[in-house]
Amino acid sequence: TSTPPIYTLEEVTKHRSLDNGVWVTYKGDVYDITEFVAIHPGGDKILLAAGGALEPYWALYAVHQQEHVLEILSKYKIGVL
Ligand code: HEM
Repeated sequence: TSTPPIYTLEEVTKHRSLDNGVWVTYKGDVYDITEFVAIHPGGDKILLAAGGALEPYWALYAVHQQEHVLEILSKYKIGVL
């Protein structure tokens, strides 16, 4: 088994555009969701969380509190904080 790559918050914040890649964090894990942005059912709103934490937004948009949403997110994991 191998340890996942560790990223700093500073590095995550640099990835907040489609050009540089769109990264987000959730519960201590880091995700590169660049490819998902275009197919997000909630459209461009997803970019509000670009380069930062999903938690505050998912608290507002409770539609994400479902197993199938976490399943989608898990596919994009690239490392941990
Ligand atoms: C809906 C995934 C981030 C706003 C959805 C749905 C999925 C999804 C799968 C459809 C859920 C369903 O109807 O069963 C994700 C993932 C995200 C993300 C994987 C991060 C990687 C965000 C953010 C926002 C947001 C940051 C807001 C700032 C919305 C809204 C809807 C939605 C408003 C409802 C769309 C509608 O039904 O009209 N999202 N989302 N999402 N999302 Fe996200």
